[in-house]
Amino acid sequence: MNSRPNTTEPNSTETIEPTGLDSIAPTMRAAVARRYGNADVVAIENVPTPQAGKGQVLIRVEASSLNALDWHFLTGTPYFLRLIAGLRRPKRIVRGADVAGTVVAVGADATSLHIGDRVFGESAGGGCAPYLATKAEYLVPIPEGVSFQAAGATPVAGITALQGLRTHGGTRPGDHVLINGAAGGVGTFAVQIAKALGAEVTAVCSTRNVGMVERLGADHVVDYTTDDFVPGSARFDVMLDNVGNRSAADCISVLRPAGRYVAVSGPKENRWLGPIGHLVRTRFAFRRTDATFHQFTASSTPEDLMFLGELLASGQVVPEIQRSVGLDGVADALAEIGSGHARAKIVVIPT
Ligand SMILES: NC(=O)c1ccc[n+]([C@@H]2O[C@H](COP(=O)([O-])OP(=O)(O)OC[C@H]3O[C@@H](n4cnc5c(N)ncnc54)[C@H](OP(=O)(O)O)[C@@H]3O)[C@@H](O)[C@H]2O)c1
Repeated sequence: MNSRPNTTEPNSTETIEPTGLDSIAPTMRAAVARRYGNADVVAIENVPTPQAGKGQVLIRVEASSLNALDWHFLTGTPYFLRLIAGLRRPKRIVRGADVAGTVVAVGADATSLHIGDRVFGESAGGGCAPYLATKAEYLVPIPEGVSFQAAGATPVAGITALQGLRTHGGTRPGDHVLINGAAGGVGTFAVQIAKALGAEVTAVCSTRNVGMVERLGADHVVDYTTDDFVPGSARFDVMLDNVGNRSAADCISVLRPAGRYVAVSGPKENRWLGPIGHLVRTRFAFRRTDATFHQFTASSTPEDLMFLGELLASGQVVPEIQRSVGLDGVADALAEIGSGHARAKIVVIPT
């Protein structure tokens, strides 16, 4: 799970009068969840329009997108997550961490951004609404030529894929990278980013997604419904694991001697601790090998966001958007993500 930027709710107390581009109504429609549960707790409500507090900007949200992360925050599972998300009910009610939009007001000390700037980044929720107030330091400019939809689809999944492959996996040109779970949000970015880093890519997905993953640039595709990457002869320098459905022995067996196993996810059966037990056992098993185990919680940085922006601008990465929905489509989109078989990205246009 990502460590989330800390932003305030719409009715932030430390506010200043925005001098913005828009004439902004005091309330706005938003996709909210006031209690933990499945997609049926998501409702469209009128909530106070946020204002830019100290160090914050107010952005008019042009596009957001949904991630597995949003499902975890919706359901409040695994339960340890509630220590930060709110013990009895969610502290933040407006869904959506990814955001791309236009700065319409600037709070005190938010000197890095200006009214009219096109920006994207990750906030601690609030994306599924027409306006979001968030710290300026969490946002970077959208490069020229990159659409709001592409930028809004990128932050959480793109940062996770980039940090998994580059920061933790140490992916270098010529490495052979195995991406388990190549068809979801993280996976579709990972296939493209691994290619941009100069790697040979083997992608694992189900039958219906084979064509998509090939089109994104995978050199080899393993359809896990009919085939298995473990008994094969291919050996990998990096295994980026977005699923966590294989034993430690399986993962070790497919890695080259100095290979790196990067755990993005793990089994979700344990509602209290999620994948923690599985990850601890896997880490322990790797101590007896030359290959290394890496587990991480993605954390958005301006440098990584700007690097992703360059990949978007150069066309090396084109977010795979399966569909765009309005606020009324947020609940169904979250249910699809909760099924564990969402395809690529679902973008939210908050109208
Ligand atoms: N560590 C972190 O900081 C971090 C950050 C972001 C996400 N995550 C976690 O990483 C995981 C992936 O995130 P996401 O946003 O990509 O999720 P997602 O968009 O919901 O995608 C899940 C994907 O998993 C694939 N999948 C399911 N079972 C599979 C199997 N047995 N073998 C191969 N692929 C399988 C599905 O493809 P098919 O339909 O083809 O089966 C689906 O496309 C989630 O568990 C999320 O919680 C962790």
